[in-house]
Amino acid sequence: MPLKIALFASGSGSNAENIVKFFSESEKIIFPVIISNKKDAFVHERAKNLQIPSFSFSREDFISGYPLLDFLKKHEIDAIVLAGFLLKVPEVLVNAFPNRIINIHPALLPKYGGKGMYGHHVHEAVVASGDTESGITIHYVNAHYDEGSIIFQAKCPVSPSDTADMIADKVHALEYEYFPKVIQDIWG
Ligand code: GAR
Repeated sequence: MPLKIALFASGSGSNAENIVKFFSESEKIIFPVIISNKKDAFVHERAKNLQIPSFSFSREDFISGYPLLDFLKKHEIDAIVLAGFLLKVPEVLVNAFPNRIINIHPALLPKYGGKGMYGHHVHEAVVASGDTESGITIHYVNAHYDEGSIIFQAKCPVSPSDTADMIADKVHALEYEYFPKVIQDIWG
């Protein structure tokens, strides 16, 4: 039986698409559903093209966690990958999937993590700091934002003339290269 992974994404979903494509021939890992907290997120468009059913849940559902837990059980989901997911994962889910939820963060945690630190906010903070490097962190998810144990990090250089957009491009390139491989290493 292949491992069934639910992908969670809040926005564009380019990581979700990249992961699905990487495993398109896999017999060990499949992605039966994509879940978002936004009805109009572009990830739904990508899901349609990938022929994967996608679903939206309200903020209230994410705060409670129980509607999601029921849904994931119904679909016999074994693990969850947060690929650009911007809400906190409810404790109900964290407890139901111990060491079975991973997240990608677009910086080198523990720097630039925590509430409000997502997407562009992260890259803008890196520019403002004058740091000479940034990167990605893939980690297990616990009940606190960006604090679960780290599985993998990769770095990219940041130069003084880099804008937040330029750093976002470098970080996305690292995400596309490493995120699927790390999923494979853990569960493949
Ligand atoms: C990615 O860079 C991901 O690391 C980040 O959102 C972006 C989503 O891009 N996630 C976070 O900031 C989580 N705190 P995508 O929708 O194109 O995959």
